[in-house]
This record gives sequence, structure tokens and C-alpha cells, in this order.
Amino acid sequence: MSKMRVAVLISGRGSNMEALIKAARAPDYPAEIVLVLSNKPDAAGLEIARGLGVQAEAVPAKPFGKDRAAHELALDERLRAAGVEIVCLAGYMRLLTPYLVGRWAGRMLNIHPSLLPAYPGLDTHARALAAGETKHGCTVHLVTEGMDEGPVIAQAEVPVLPGDTEEALAARVLAQEHRIYPAALARLAEKIRLREEAPRR
Ligand code: GAR
Repeated sequence: MSKMRVAVLISGRGSNMEALIKAARAPDYPAEIVLVLSNKPDAAGLEIARGLGVQAEAVPAKPFGKDRAAHELALDERLRAAGVEIVCLAGYMRLLTPYLVGRWAGRMLNIHPSLLPAYPGLDTHARALAAGETKHGCTVHLVTEGMDEGPVIAQAEVPVLPGDTEEALAARVLAQEHRIYPAALARLAEKIRLREEAPRR
């Protein structure tokens, strides 16, 4: 069985990236992580990826200044050169332009720490606590032009417990992120493979 080639885009600690790399090591997992890219050269996740034997590079946004499209072109060149077929955003904290989203339509996933469509954007745990929610969670979705929109592939719910702090709630959600992201990627990889293997009429 050939595995789909996947890149993970990060900006920071990379715990979801790590979960994806480790899950993809299973022989029967339908995808392999072949490349990790970060817009931040000092992202801790880059070293973690290298330690796990995965090619990891920074493509800093800074030299491109306000030219977001030029930065995305540089990212896209790396993705294409590595023969990447699916892109996973994992704590990639930079808004994408329609250019990159369009290039990877149907092949780009994102993980977000809320039960979308609730709480798109930042500070999701603090906002859920402030609103007195009793349930919170995380979502893996296909990336479309709107921020934190796009068809949902997987969701996991956690309870908000009495006396929860932002950190405690974030940790409870993160444990679920590490579970549903590998499952969602496997689902997408299988789906794309089936589509590509289907006999053409
Ligand atoms: C994760 O909680 C992820 O859901 C969130 O950033 C964190 C990254 O952690 N993403 C977003 O908020 C995107 N809107 P990680 O680097 O340890 O995976």
C-alpha cells in the first residue's frame, strides 16, 4: 500500500504535528509525514520533527514583509518539490490567502480548539469559560477561504468542569486534538486514494 505524502505546517510547539508523525508510523496508516514547514524559524516543533526523523524547515514570513502571496508561493514551491499531496495545518497561526487555499482545495486540513462553528479565532478556551459553556472541544475541518470555516471532518467534545482554568480546559481539549487529528487525516487520505484509484470512464 502506498501512503499519501503529507506536509504539516506549524508555528509553535508542534504537539499535534508530533501526534500525526507518530500515528503515521503504523504500517497500515494511509499517509506519511514527509515534511514539516514553519513560518517561525524558532518554532519548537521543528526540532521535535527532526528528532523523529522528519525533514523540517523554516520558511520565514518576515523577509516577505506584507507580501503574503510571495511567502505562500515560497511555501507552495517547497510543498510541490517534496511531492506533497495533503497539507495539515497544526497550530499554523497565519491567515492564508485564497491563493494557497485554492491550490490545496480539498487537500488541506486544519485543527481548531473549539466546537466549530462556535468560537472561531483566538482565545477559544478563555471565551468558552467566560460564556459559561458546559461543553467545549475541538474540530478538524477542510480549509476554505473563510477563517475556521469549511466542512467538518471530525469533532470531539469535552466537558467544562466546575473550577476549570483556561490551562486545565486547554489540556483536556488538546488530548482530544491528538486523537482526532490522526483519525481525520487517515479518513481524508483514504478518500483521496479511492478517488484517484477509481477507474476513469
Ligand atoms: C492547538 O491547540 C491548535 O488547535 C491551535 O493551536 C494549538 C497548537 O498546538 N490552533 C489554532 O488555534 C488555529 N486557529 P500545537 O502546536 O502543540 O499543535
